[in-house]
Amino acid sequence: MNVKDKVTIITGAGGGLGSEMARLLCKHGAKVFILDLDAEKGQQTADEIVAGGGAAWFFKADVTSEADWKAAVDKAVETCGRLDVLVNNAGINIRKPIEEMSIDEWCTMMKVNTGSAFLGCKYAIPVMRKQGGGVIINTSSVCGLIGHKYTPEAYTASKGAVTLLTKAIASRYAKDGVRCNSIHPSTVDTPFVQILFKDPERKAERLGEVPLGRLATSADVANAVLYLASDEASFINGVALPVDGGVTCY
Ligand SMILES: NC(=O)c1ccc[n+]([C@@H]2O[C@H](COP(=O)([O-])OP(=O)(O)OC[C@H]3O[C@@H](n4cnc5c(N)ncnc54)[C@H](O)[C@@H]3O)[C@@H](O)[C@H]2O)c1
Repeated sequence: MNVKDKVTIITGAGGGLGSEMARLLCKHGAKVFILDLDAEKGQQTADEIVAGGGAAWFFKADVTSEADWKAAVDKAVETCGRLDVLVNNAGINIRKPIEEMSIDEWCTMMKVNTGSAFLGCKYAIPVMRKQGGGVIINTSSVCGLIGHKYTPEAYTASKGAVTLLTKAIASRYAKDGVRCNSIHPSTVDTPFVQILFKDPERKAERLGEVPLGRLATSADVANAVLYLASDEASFINGVALPVDGGVTCY
């Protein structure tokens, strides 16, 4: 997959899935700006990549802040002269069903999960159009494709909006060489999930819905991002790509 020298911004890349994406893209020669609220984790991820011979920078940013977005995109362009790839990955989940969720919590979910992708696209697209193209990848979820009974309704609504924001951008800006796709992971194997899985009933319940019979790994998700960012995906635009072992097949 060719992503060599592609100047890339990945949000929420201090830890979790975003840091795996950053490591993988850097391994393939991309130059990655790690955006995160958490300065300690973000700097550590960047330092590890640089120590391993990769090109990475940490930039502290709140992805809900318009000023932070403007500064981050300016920094990437100032440092590397362009912006080839934007991965809107940062997201949160307030784990409450609709009956228990306040309107403020709903707004927070929408702001972080959907507003961040809106702002990232708003500031990246003018740069990409000016230079003749670019790639945007939005991290949605299986919950951006289906209603899922174990997931908060606000999370599902926020991720569903990301799915169609992606397609709207894909259709409007393809003429400028900008491709925009979304990825839709199912539950990823993290320490949090392993704690949940100590309850055998919950484990059986969750694994039972995956035709391939296992959880996603962060490598599964990062590999999808690598492909969509690469030149090999040059005709892939407006796609909502499940990384879910078949969860959304039925
Ligand atoms: N983990 C899963 O099972 C799973 C499944 C489907 C989709 N997703 C999506 O994948 C993305 C990454 O999930 P993850 O599991 O790696 O989460 P995570 O909580 O491990 O990491 C999220 C990162 O985003 C950062 N962040 C949060 N709010 C921010 C803000 N306002 N500004 C800047 N940075 C901020 C955090 O500091 C953290 O480093 C999210 O959009 C999530 O909804 C995750």
